[in-house]
Amino acid sequence: MNQKTGFIGGGNMASALVNGMLNNGIEPTSIYVADPDPAQQQALLALNSSINTCSDGAELLNVVDVLVLAVKPQIMQAVVEPLASQINSDTLIVSVAAGVPINKLTEWLGREMAIIRCMPNTPSLVGCGASGLYANALVSPTQKTGVETLFNTVGISAWLDSEAAIDQVIAVSGSGPAYFFYLMEIMQQAGTELGLPADLTQTLTIQTALGAAQLASQSEDNPATLRDKVTSKGGTTAAAIELMQQQGMDETIRAAMQAAVTRAAELADEI
Ligand SMILES: NC(=O)c1ccc[n+]([C@@H]2O[C@H](COP(=O)([O-])OP(=O)(O)OC[C@H]3O[C@@H](n4cnc5c(N)ncnc54)[C@H](OP(=O)(O)O)[C@@H]3O)[C@@H](O)[C@H]2O)c1
Repeated sequence: MNQKTGFIGGGNMASALVNGMLNNGIEPTSIYVADPDPAQQQALLALNSSINTCSDGAELLNVVDVLVLAVKPQIMQAVVEPLASQINSDTLIVSVAAGVPINKLTEWLGREMAIIRCMPNTPSLVGCGASGLYANALVSPTQKTGVETLFNTVGISAWLDSEAAIDQVIAVSGSGPAYFFYLMEIMQQAGTELGLPADLTQTLTIQTALGAAQLASQSEDNPATLRDKVTSKGGTTAAAIELMQQQGMDETIRAAMQAAVTRAAELADEI
């Protein structure tokens, strides 16, 4: 990847991507980050002092081939519109903002441009992310490969056939880490109520989540088969799972994920 990559916004997501790029041997001098917060710039320079940082996005627009928009969705319009006329027409725009549709970005940019919308998730911060990517018709195959490589530095990525699928990715992997954190939180509380020490319950819960995820990712069996394999008829796991099913866990998760899709669409309308 010889391209020069610029980030507008140097917060959590940009830092995760910069870190991933550096860990994968990307030349630090090819990375540019604009963030008004000097502390944020220092934090990025601590990753590698050869990264280019600045406080104003306008400073990097003439240099970069790929411009990653990594500010909060609520301020995206206010950040993009003043910069729009200075962005080169052949620059690839990559937005990681949740709930900001391509037609809005196009409107704020003032012209049709090659745009990729990405939906990463928080485990990207530890190199274990899952990102859904959607490219508009102006993005070239080479540009797609470059961006796929970028997001694969912080985990895995997959191309989507439609922009609407971004909302479905939000429901699965975007919000998904919180579903697992919630389950861990409840298991921790319940384990403590059963009588185990709180710190031991936390350690066992987190290690079990990690172990289950690693087993699922390394095994040729799908999660349903893996669950079957640990659920002996009449055993303790069967007692627990049967109760979860009787109490409507399946329906709750389905309804929760539908609520996430509905909210994603509402947020896009509110932008
Ligand atoms: N974090 C995640 O796991 C995650 C997952 C999926 C999608 N996303 C998306 O990623 C985007 C960034 O999220 P984040 O968690 O990285 O947010 P963040 O940590 O708040 O980072 C955004 C950064 O942009 C800076 N900024 C504000 N105005 C700016 C401007 N005019 N020019 C340049 N930088 C500016 C902010 O500085 P100040 O703090 O000083 O305002 C902040 O450092 C969001 O759109 C979010 O939807 C994040």
